[in-house]
Amino acid sequence: MAKTYAMGVIGLGMGINMLPVNKRNDIPINVTQICDLNEAALKKTQSEYNLDRCTTDYMEMVNDTSLDIIGVFSPDPLHFEHCEAALKAGKHVLCTKPMVVSLEESKEIVRLVKEKGVKFMVGQTMRYEPQFAALRDLFDSGDLGDVFMGQAHYIHDMRPVYAATPWRINMPQDMVYGGLSHPIDALRWFFGDVDEVHAVGSKAPMLKCPNTGKHYEDYANYMVNLKFKNGLVASAFGAFGVVEPPQPMMGISLFGTSGSSTAEFADFLGGKVTTVLDHFEDKKPVEDLYPPETEGAFGHGRTSIRYLIDFGIALTNDTLPQPSVFEGAKTIAACSAAYESIVTGKVVKVFNEF
Ligand SMILES: NC(=O)c1ccc[n+]([C@@H]2O[C@H](COP(=O)([O-])OP(=O)(O)OC[C@H]3O[C@@H](n4cnc5c(N)ncnc54)[C@H](O)[C@@H]3O)[C@@H](O)[C@H]2O)c1
Repeated sequence: MAKTYAMGVIGLGMGINMLPVNKRNDIPINVTQICDLNEAALKKTQSEYNLDRCTTDYMEMVNDTSLDIIGVFSPDPLHFEHCEAALKAGKHVLCTKPMVVSLEESKEIVRLVKEKGVKFMVGQTMRYEPQFAALRDLFDSGDLGDVFMGQAHYIHDMRPVYAATPWRINMPQDMVYGGLSHPIDALRWFFGDVDEVHAVGSKAPMLKCPNTGKHYEDYANYMVNLKFKNGLVASAFGAFGVVEPPQPMMGISLFGTSGSSTAEFADFLGGKVTTVLDHFEDKKPVEDLYPPETEGAFGHGRTSIRYLIDFGIALTNDTLPQPSVFEGAKTIAACSAAYESIVTGKVVKVFNEF
């Protein structure tokens, strides 16, 4: 397949997972340039992948006419600035989660994508993990009957992550978007637009950077009840200021009239999908096991390639990549409403008019 689309990548943490696309003949995307403030990482990656150019100035890359796509893998609070610049330059954008970190920013990104007529995809990894994709297939098959309720979680003790990626505590990373966007997007994937949310949250006195002692001041743990436009209900749980509990890092459960199923995943570890259908005589669960994926940054190498495949298809066929900018924006809107609910104690309507 011809490498029709040249991509520049900003941020070489999670963003390093874009580089193996160059070896894939089935994806029409080639990373030709990289950008990072860390010059040593930049030079190392440039020589390892034999890349044309590297820079510490993202504007230089964004304005380079040889590039078609900008991959935004910088710290969360910079996503808006980097996506806005790329869109204004007429580039397609692949942005890691969270798309942005406020409702206002999400509205402006959607406006720019519409104005420029370009493709914009949000790299929500949960949608591309094999066990969650298998749950989606089960949901689509109808075997669970009418699914009326769901639950999703993401639990991660952030202290070691702060030590490895200090921007998360220094900027800081707002966990309502940086963390809670995972289970909220996962539930939106199954149930569609969220009508209203009610949420409670707790702060975490022990959530500090082990290196500097800097404390994460805001709410760090969230319990969110969601009512969807179609009347279905679900709950999202996000816990980031906790001692890592003995349970899978991420999960999605679906409850239907003919069965219930739970899919579980953890970085670098295997996962499983466990299903009980009502017609099973003994109601004994069936387990499908998924081996660990360990390649790339955070073990998300293969997941990233899976979403790059879909992005390539959307570019080639001129279709909407999924999760699209609209999906990304609605997830941000639901996260924003959850935070408002925690602070006000009220049920909050979610903005969906993008
Ligand atoms: N499951 C997932 O999808 C997943 C997993 C991990 C990280 N992420 C996301 O990836 C993004 C990056 O997080 P990370 O964990 O890779 O952090 P990281 O610190 O490992 O990488 C970020 C990189 O961005 C560079 N950078 C910072 N400011 C820059 C600028 N102005 N211009 C160019 N480069 C700049 C840093 O030097 C660093 O190398 C975040 O948005 C995070 O939420 C997503």
